[in-house]
Amino acid sequence: MTCGYPMAALLALFVIFPFATSIIQSPPRMVKQPSTEELLFQVVQRQDENNKPFIVECEAEGEPAPKYRWIKNGKHFDWQTYDNRISQQPGRGTLVVTVPQDEDRGYYQCFATNEWGTAMSNSVHVYKSDLNSFREDPPKEIEIQEGEPLSLKCSPPDGYPKPQVYWMIQSTSGALRSINSSRMTVDPEGTLWFSNVTRFDATNDFVYACSATSLFRNEYKLGNKVYLNVVAAGSAPGQSKHSPVKQYVSRKNFVAYRGKKAELWCIYGGTPLPEITWQKRGGPLPYGRFTTTNYGKTLVFKYVDYEDEGTYECFASNGVGTAQSYSISLHVEAKPEFTVEPQTVNAAEGETVEFRCESHGVPSPIIDWYHNGKPISEAPQNPRRQVMPNKVIIRNLEKTDTGNYACNASNSIGYVFKDAYVNVLGLSTFLLPPLRKCIALVLPSSCDSRRGDRAFLRLFAMPCELLLRRHASSAFQTEGKRRPRRKWPVDGLPKPEWASAVAAMTIG
Ligand SMILES: *[C@@H]1O[C@H](CO)[C@@H](O)[C@H](O)[C@H]1NC(C)=O
Ligand SMILES: *[C@@H]1O[C@H](CO)[C@@H](O)[C@H](O)[C@H]1NC(C)=O
Ligand SMILES: *[C@@H]1O[C@H](CO)[C@@H](O)[C@H](O)[C@H]1NC(C)=O
Repeated sequence: MTCGYPMAALLALFVIFPFATSIIQSPPRMVKQPSTEELLFQVVQRQDENNKPFIVECEAEGEPAPKYRWIKNGKHFDWQTYDNRISQQPGRGTLVVTVPQDEDRGYYQCFATNEWGTAMSNSVHVYKSDLNSFREDPPKEIEIQEGEPLSLKCSPPDGYPKPQVYWMIQSTSGALRSINSSRMTVDPEGTLWFSNVTRFDATNDFVYACSATSLFRNEYKLGNKVYLNVVAAGSAPGQSKHSPVKQYVSRKNFVAYRGKKAELWCIYGGTPLPEITWQKRGGPLPYGRFTTTNYGKTLVFKYVDYEDEGTYECFASNGVGTAQSYSISLHVEAKPEFTVEPQTVNAAEGETVEFRCESHGVPSPIIDWYHNGKPISEAPQNPRRQVMPNKVIIRNLEKTDTGNYACNASNSIGYVFKDAYVNVLGLSTFLLPPLRKCIALVLPSSCDSRRGDRAFLRLFAMPCELLLRRHASSAFQTEGKRRPRRKWPVDGLPKPEWASAVAAMTIG
């Protein structure tokens, strides 16, 4: 056989004839679970607000159908005691919290158990979204000399997720408009910087107000109002000159997270307005990796990646005094991701199976193994099992080795988690009367077959037993992506006697 992937190999399927459905027993395995990132909910605070229900997903496959339980903050979570506020989707573990309340905050994890083992889900932090109000201070009045740089600090209220802070201009009629001036910049901590103050910045018919916005709650609050009194300079406007002065810059060692947005800041004041340019040490700014905003003061990486690491320098000059520069070294950290995930295997007694788990991340992830929902160190002793950082090997399988194995790769930023199972299939399981069971081979109709083509499912009778032994590990890989297994002919296997083609199927 010289056909290429995916159909080169003959896929051996185990079928129960004449029934189309399989009743092969197996341990549970998670198929739906919460993301490893946080979940948010909101509790009604205003009349015009609605409850936002939240759902913590959990669904496992397995035969017999698994039973579900939850833990919250490390303790058994009895969702039934919450009246109708919390319900579980029928046949699944998924919790639906229709009327969220403060007490629903916590760390949730779901377990699915049947007689063959236990699967556990990602654990997820559930937070309540919040946006408090500003302190009710009377508006401040500030007097400032025209031409001087100025900063207005904002003390935003607490909130979760952290509110976005900005400054707005509110007219006496109450209308709000955003600040859009090359001379005025709001830094990421919420301070409004004037590179210089002009007489037009004076608050004759408006007030400066800080705003805190929660995107999740679709809500904002205003506070920290400031009236500005600008004292006209003696000289005519445009005559005064100030050399560049540093107002706000990002920290020298800036850590960004791979795949997330990163912003490097250089805000300089002065008159005329300093022009900001950026360079990457050791070469030009990499084309296409970034944009600038705030009139050049902010270098933005939409999705930062390892290649963006390096030292960035901003230069501020306005033709007065000496130009200034500042350098920021950008370091990229990354939450773990799998390079090799553990895979579910069906194996025969006596065989050896291996679960592998490899991951990548910065800082380097640590790998922890779980067996049936517990750290593997707490699993019953098994001399035939060998646990290494990147793999678990179980030799000379016995029926009792059937169970769920999971791998958690974590670092300081986050984790990835994947579970799989080994199902040890004793021959007797399949040869029980009265079901007539048999081996089928899926053959492509030709060597050029591709995914989506039709293939013929051929059934042949005995010697099933022998085939099962040899093909046990591939015999039940019928879900998901089918991977080529052994090629035909397999050493030591008798040549099958073909029955006529009984079905046609599509190659998955
Ligand atoms: C994986 O490990 C991290 C770090 O110890 C932990 O926070 C997380 O809850 C673990 N994930 C699961 C599913 O247990
Ligand atoms: C700000 O003003 C500039 C120039 O007047 C204009 O091009 C830009 O679209 C404005 N931006 C916003 C967000 O209003
Ligand atoms: C402030 O800076 C702007 C922009 O450089 C300049 O046009 C203006 O004359 C300056 N105003 C004062 C009062 O210095």
